[in-house]
Amino acid sequence: MNAPLPVDVLKQHLIDPEICIRCNTCEETCPVDAITHDSNNYVVDPDICNGCMACVPPCPTGSIDNWRLMVRSEAYSVQEQFGWEELPKEKALPAASPTSTPIEGADTSLDSPLSQAAETLAAAPAQASFTPAGASVPPWSAAHPYVNLYTHKAPMTATVVGNYRVTGADTESDIHHIVLDFGELPFPVLEGQSIGILPPGVDAQGRPHHARQYSLASPRDGERAGYNNLSLTVKRVTEDHGGAAAHGVCSNYLCDLAKNDTVQVIGPFGHTFLMPNHPRANLIMICTGTGSAPMRAMTERYRRRIDSGENGRLMLFFGARTERELPYFGPLMKLPRDFIDINLALSREPGQPKRYVQDLIRDRAAQVCDLLADRNTCIYVCGLKGMEVGVLDALRDVTMQSGQDWSILHEVLRREGRLHFETY
Ligand code: A2P
Repeated sequence: MNAPLPVDVLKQHLIDPEICIRCNTCEETCPVDAITHDSNNYVVDPDICNGCMACVPPCPTGSIDNWRLMVRSEAYSVQEQFGWEELPKEKALPAASPTSTPIEGADTSLDSPLSQAAETLAAAPAQASFTPAGASVPPWSAAHPYVNLYTHKAPMTATVVGNYRVTGADTESDIHHIVLDFGELPFPVLEGQSIGILPPGVDAQGRPHHARQYSLASPRDGERAGYNNLSLTVKRVTEDHGGAAAHGVCSNYLCDLAKNDTVQVIGPFGHTFLMPNHPRANLIMICTGTGSAPMRAMTERYRRRIDSGENGRLMLFFGARTERELPYFGPLMKLPRDFIDINLALSREPGQPKRYVQDLIRDRAAQVCDLLADRNTCIYVCGLKGMEVGVLDALRDVTMQSGQDWSILHEVLRREGRLHFETY
């Protein structure tokens, strides 16, 4: 007999520092606070992670999905992981644990307890104990996205072909529309995806800056239809979330770029926040500030096929401080009313009551419920983290008022890839 020995094998969850774009999504998603970061890396604490997998689908790069079978006492510590520039090579588990000296008479032809434990762990289904607010799958008719075609080690060089401000010159919100051209090199993207920009220079520790992630503001066939280019919506960061002065390394770099400057780009990223492609799919788009980028991309995709007869309905809820601080205000208001139902929530417009997007969702309850009752409707939410709860509450209230059970509808929207969040 081969008596079981006390071995403790861990399926250790690791993040690949070469692919990770430090977008913080995993840390925000983790329901048990196992993920943390320093100025170099995002890492998983092996003593806390329970393998629930909640962080895996939202990761836009797939860098989160790395697992190593380790003897628990030899697991990589958080401190060790902070120092990594790349994942260490996979180590084979020892044939037997330090405690597994053969027992007299034992059948040594059988697998060691370590490898048995390892196989059990490797085959074990992930514990699913956490339900995120949004879907972890794309809508069924979304096109196939390409991800990670260009990486930190092999970025691509794009040329700036446009950079102009899309908010009032007299306002605090300095938001730029930046157009990048890829020349002859392929850079296939879909609406809802993002790219990473590598700002030049080094950080306080003398290391090259990490990439910063920006959502595309243009549709798949280019900022200018048929051109190999795309656009970004970038807000110049001059203060942190608390209002203290802060210099955004990448946003300032991008907003100051001139035509014909070159930029190092990685990506594309994102495989779930994608638009449906089937005819008559409706979109409810809810955004604040630069969260309007993916909404502009999707709206423009619809606009370019306005005569096809295939478009469903578009309903937009867009929050900004004032009209002059709302990016793309002019072009947005020129879109035909029967093409897109626009609802602007202005929070600091002089002489007007403070309005948030969730207030307008309640104001338009009947139309929102009408769209939600249609299985061809997908909902996209992008912008400030704080609006996530407010939007969910508003959706719950309007559906409950119309006699529907929000908890059932919410689950259906998630399962069918019809409710997506990208907040920061
Ligand atoms: P506020 O005037 O209260 O800051 P920003 O310009 O900072 O990017 O914000 C965009 C818009 O989002 C502003 O109108 C801002 O209002 C609004 N906003 C701030 N917090 C929330 C929230 N929790 N839910 C919805 N909108 C919000």
